[in-house]
Amino acid sequence: MVNAIPAAWRFSTADEVLFGCGVAERIGVEARHRNLSCALIVADPNMIKAGLVDTVQRSLRASRIASHVFEGGVPEPGTATVNAAAEMARAARPDLIIGLGGGSNMDVAKVAAAVYAHGGSAADYFGENRVPGPTVPVFAVPTTAGTGSEVTAVAVIEDEARHLKLAVASPHLRPRLAIVDPLLTRSCPAKVTAESGMDALVHAVEAYTVVSYDALDALPEARPQFTGRQPITDALAERAIRLIGRHLRAAVYQPNAVAAREGMHLAALLAGMAFSSAGLGAAHALQYPVGAATHTSHGLGTGLLLPYVVEYLLPAAPKRFARIAAWLGEDVKGMSAAEAGRRCVEAIQRLKQDVGLPMRLRDIGAREERLRPMAEQAATYQRLLRMSPRPLDVNALEGILRSAW
Ligand SMILES: NC(=O)c1ccc[n+]([C@@H]2O[C@H](COP(=O)([O-])OP(=O)(O)OC[C@H]3O[C@@H](n4cnc5c(N)ncnc54)[C@H](O)[C@@H]3O)[C@@H](O)[C@H]2O)c1
Ligand SMILES: [Fe+2]
Repeated sequence: MVNAIPAAWRFSTADEVLFGCGVAERIGVEARHRNLSCALIVADPNMIKAGLVDTVQRSLRASRIASHVFEGGVPEPGTATVNAAAEMARAARPDLIIGLGGGSNMDVAKVAAAVYAHGGSAADYFGENRVPGPTVPVFAVPTTAGTGSEVTAVAVIEDEARHLKLAVASPHLRPRLAIVDPLLTRSCPAKVTAESGMDALVHAVEAYTVVSYDALDALPEARPQFTGRQPITDALAERAIRLIGRHLRAAVYQPNAVAAREGMHLAALLAGMAFSSAGLGAAHALQYPVGAATHTSHGLGTGLLLPYVVEYLLPAAPKRFARIAAWLGEDVKGMSAAEAGRRCVEAIQRLKQDVGLPMRLRDIGAREERLRPMAEQAATYQRLLRMSPRPLDVNALEGILRSAW
């Protein structure tokens, strides 16, 4: 596309990132440095059972910071969970909200902070730029190596009225501080490690292969959250893909292998930084209806679908997929870009199989006659599909679902 506006790009992420084994124990000191005095911790029963709420509360107590715990987090949360957390915030009046958990709890914390600051209820904030201003600071403490929500300007919440996963996207949703401690992921069940780890791979692959920033015809200030890939997001995505190729299998099968946990937590963080500026694509648009129909997790769905999406996209970006194949450890020397790109599909399928993800949609109970309605639903996620390097209409989306079925 010929672009009349000089090409320019922007990169945004969380204000600060603290990374390393044991950094969760510094959360109290970090809050104290910022003159904060009362925290609401958004958690769930698994966080309590694993002793992670205890770790955070101990650290807050040592810095004389009061804390309240919202224990109502659930996987793939909906508006009711966000509204309940915001209600608790209104009663406890915290000056800090901590999202402790996987993407689910972090997303609840981010949107609850918006509702607490600006009133109304969660559903009022669906869409782009509907949060009118800053919120109390949010610290995001991921306990899965997956979503990257600790640095993103997005939260994904089910609109319970419509049984639809929708995004709240706003720069005001970015956490003030991401506290990324690999040791917190050691209690993750293997299934959660595998599924969230595959989601991180999907983030990196989609961020690396969306359209380039100069394909979007708008000035940086007028752009949506997703602005297309650019040099910073390319570098982040490459490192994330290499790390996942090297560490995901070990993280799943040797849960206490600290090097693997570190590699995966760094990968998920970098992939989150990459996609949050560059964008995501069809694997995400298709996962929302697939997840709703089959009651499967976000990472299982995006991971299952990724190779079929890549197969469709190959002709549009063969060199990029060839590089991804090499980063995942494939020997592609001497191959044409098209041949090497095929290896990318095979490498992802092998990784899926090795970490125990189902291979096909029929394996998770998707019904063939529902594929068309799912494709129609996926086609409504234009904020994702407009980033695709190859155009995607309902027929193309249905084609991808059929190959995945
Ligand atoms: N905001 C974003 O940028 C973004 C990006 C991708 C996905 N998402 C959303 O994130 C959600 C998925 O998040 P997820 O994959 O991290 O899983 P999750 O947060 O749903 O967690 C899955 C399960 O694992 C448990 N768990 C998590 N960490 C644990 C630990 N260390 N020890 C023991 N149990 C643990 C949780 O309690 C939960 O039951 C979806 O709703 C998805 O749409 C958000
Ligand atoms: Fe995702």
